[in-house]
Amino acid sequence: MNNIWSANVQGVMTLYLSRRLRFDDCFFPQYGKSFGLDRSKDLKILEIGCGPGALAEALHRWYPRSHITAIDKDSTFVAFAKKNIEGVTFLEGDATHLGFEDDFFDVVISNTVQEHIEPQAFWGEQRRVLKPGGVCLCLSSRKGLQCTCHCLEITAEEKDFWESASQSDSVLERLGVGKYRLSEAELPAIMELYGFTDVSTGYAIIDLTPDAPKYSAQMAEAMIDALRQNDLEAIRSMRSPNSQSAVDAVNLKYDNRLCLYRSGIKQWDTTVSITMIVRGIKNIRE
Ligand SMILES: C[S@@+](CC[C@H](N)C(=O)[O-])C[C@H]1O[C@@H](n2cnc3c(N)ncnc32)[C@H](O)[C@@H]1O
Repeated sequence: MNNIWSANVQGVMTLYLSRRLRFDDCFFPQYGKSFGLDRSKDLKILEIGCGPGALAEALHRWYPRSHITAIDKDSTFVAFAKKNIEGVTFLEGDATHLGFEDDFFDVVISNTVQEHIEPQAFWGEQRRVLKPGGVCLCLSSRKGLQCTCHCLEITAEEKDFWESASQSDSVLERLGVGKYRLSEAELPAIMELYGFTDVSTGYAIIDLTPDAPKYSAQMAEAMIDALRQNDLEAIRSMRSPNSQSAVDAVNLKYDNRLCLYRSGIKQWDTTVSITMIVRGIKNIRE
């Protein structure tokens, strides 16, 4: 049982809810253009480091004829995905030793995983399991925008909690989180270095503004809830006995945010995330 990531880095709901928004169908035209995959084909797709499964879930909707397999090292994520998502084969597995034969998949894809895994293993294993002519898609989060509103500013209770909680970056460092982060120029270059050809880049810009009229009430409330769960899981992950007043303060502020949204009193808080999509082909001639 491995739950290193879900217990120390990002919780299940933090990842699942934020990614479900990022991979909502309304953003598919942006991703689809950069993926360059044929929706009418029966493709074998492998997702590496799938977390709780929101991208695999979206791929199943977007490419309904394809067979999607998704792996992650973290047992808690895989158990959540198996329980909550249909139509995808979720497996525990290690990206550095993929349990699949050579030349098996038409497409390999990952989202915000490359920066955590040693490059030779990360690219080499994906290249090995791809068929010649297969597509490698590497999605990577870039610096976006975040602007909060008055009612969501950090409360005194949260400040006290975070000042007293023993925060340490050494756990993340020890786990190698973000150890291999690359710039927008380095990412396509490394893909070429590891033997992919026809490399191209694209960007999906995901605007999450609850008050924007283009979003349904369901989507707007999901945006507010994703932020709430993110804050709650961050507090709970500290496993501190003194977290209740911070938890209550977080719930109160997001309840208030929801009330303002439902009353039509706009706050215009926004999160804009930018996902870089790097695409390469496994050369037909080795
Ligand atoms: C930032 S999370 C992204 C999760 C998911 N792709 C998403 O966007 O929600 C990184 C993920 O990579 C997984 N991971 C890290 N190293 C791994 C490895 N060697 N093999 C498989 N998964 C790994 C972690 O367990 C975690 O789920």
